Amino acid sequence: MLTGASSLPTLETPRLRLRWMTEADIPALFELFSHPEVTRYWSWSAYTERAQAEKLLGNIHKYFAERSLFNWGFARREDDRIIGTCTLSDLSGQHRRASLGYALNRAHWGHGYGREAVGRLVEFGFTSLELHRLEADVDPRNTSSLQVLEGLGFQREGYQRERYFLNGEIQDAVLYGLLRPEWRPGPASS
Ligand SMILES: CC(C)(COP(=O)(O)OP(=O)(O)OC[C@H]1O[C@@H](n2cnc3c(N)ncnc32)[C@H](O)[C@@H]1OP(=O)(O)O)[C@@H](O)C(=O)NCCC(=O)NCCS
Repeated sequence: MLTGASSLPTLETPRLRLRWMTEADIPALFELFSHPEVTRYWSWSAYTERAQAEKLLGNIHKYFAERSLFNWGFARREDDRIIGTCTLSDLSGQHRRASLGYALNRAHWGHGYGREAVGRLVEFGFTSLELHRLEADVDPRNTSSLQVLEGLGFQREGYQRERYFLNGEIQDAVLYGLLRPEWRPGPASS
């Protein structure tokens, strides 16, 4: 997938730009992941040091080089400052599927940016990457994330009890999937 590319392609939506991140984005990445509400259901605890964001960016570049994980930053088009990230992971060319992840700076919740960015990622997965299936798992209490997926047409496929030890507790996961034939392009596509 994306054979020969040295970085991720830039993807546009009406309000956002999903793009490759560089060292200049480290302060914005740190701000994003240092808020405990953002990492409440995330796979790591809130950042406390800038070095953690530096390491994250290094891993994003490394995993892209390995083609094991595609991680875009997204910014509002007017200022290009990173306010969130969205990810395709568990990429499988053989099975034509990937998993989705996404996070938005706490200061920007409630404006539909999450849904807009994830919608563009879904479009990219099904069209440019020619995937057949996208999947995600979400804590059942993570209402806005459930809404983002359901709003994009993802179907609830299962429930896994006590799947993650995170933030001092054990968390359940609701499993979601969307198939290419079920997908309907939405207004996030540009
Ligand atoms: C998930 C996330 C990206 C959503 O982004 P967002 O742009 O703020 O999403 P919105 O605030 O527009 O909410 C999305 C939907 O949830 C609804 N919603 C939000 N909070 C809600 C609540 N407490 N109760 C009910 N509905 C709620 C909104 O009305 C909206 O519904 P709509 O699309 O039908 O209008 C953001 O909350 C986030 O970064 N969370 C932390 C990281 C995370 O948990 N990522 C997902 C891991 S699976």
